[in-house]
Amino acid sequence: TDLMNIIQGIPKAELHLHIEGSFEPELMFQIAERNNITLDYESIDALKKAYKFNNLQEFLDIYYTGAQVLLKEEDFYDLTWAYLTKVHSQNVVHVEVFFDPQTHTERGVDFKVAITGIYKALEKAKEELHISYRLIMSYLRHMTEEEAFKTLEESLPFKDWIHGVGLDSSEVGNPPSKFKEVFKASAAQGYKLVAHAGEEGPADYIWEALDILNVVRIDHGNRCLSDDALVDRLLKENMALTLCPLSNLELKVIDKLEDHPVAKMLDKGILATIHSDDPAYFGGYMNENYYETAKALNLTKDQLQQLAINAFEASWLSDSHKKKHI
Ligand code: HPA
Ligand code: ZN
Repeated sequence: TDLMNIIQGIPKAELHLHIEGSFEPELMFQIAERNNITLDYESIDALKKAYKFNNLQEFLDIYYTGAQVLLKEEDFYDLTWAYLTKVHSQNVVHVEVFFDPQTHTERGVDFKVAITGIYKALEKAKEELHISYRLIMSYLRHMTEEEAFKTLEESLPFKDWIHGVGLDSSEVGNPPSKFKEVFKASAAQGYKLVAHAGEEGPADYIWEALDILNVVRIDHGNRCLSDDALVDRLLKENMALTLCPLSNLELKVIDKLEDHPVAKMLDKGILATIHSDDPAYFGGYMNENYYETAKALNLTKDQLQQLAINAFEASWLSDSHKKKHI
């Protein structure tokens, strides 16, 4: 269609993508088989049928189960390479990728195994696909701050490969303030800071991410429009929100895409951006997120271009690299 051609033609940056959430059922079965693991699902179709979620936690339970088949460096490499070739075909030219070290170290898979596989695929994509990248390790907020500190410690030998830290997993009841000290220590190591906030949690959690954690971007942030003072704050600091419309729909953060706040955010001048979050689970990569959102909200070509420009502006590319895209 014309709309999809426009979207395909826009060079895009993806800033909110959990690599474990890009694990397509076909690859999951393939890796399970070579690792001699039997999945709880009989077939690819049976697994896909289980992808129906009423909230974030129902998704996370399946997402962590899927990740259990990742054991070896080559598993993480294949996972990451599959994602990168897919988004390359969608004209994505820059990615800032999350991984969840604790999802793997908890199961006895070394930090080194996970990060090396991911890193090698990112480097190959830089060379062969000309995709620039940053890598972000996320602390799991349902775990303790002490466990996050352990992860920070484990990351230090790989500091040169890691650009920032994030905060994800079960939001409600696990506010950003729980991780105040480990974010401070992470910043002291030179890591940039982001956090999921205001996806299912209240606007208060967005304030905490800003005031207590000192993040440079908010992942999701849907709930900010309920708080005028918060909107003023986001505008004053030109704080980016990395929104994920299909994720919000699938996790019932919104009832229908027509209710998505991104158009209102653009109207207010907020640095809003669109990404896929966990594309293998939510039914779409970058282009599908742009496309479905554009259709539901009647976004103009200018608004679509603005969303892409906003993502480059909010990215961690150097100013000179940003200029090429803005
Ligand atoms: N929210 C919180 N944690 C996550 C998500 C998300 O959308 N995806 C993967 N981990
Ligand atoms: Zn996310």
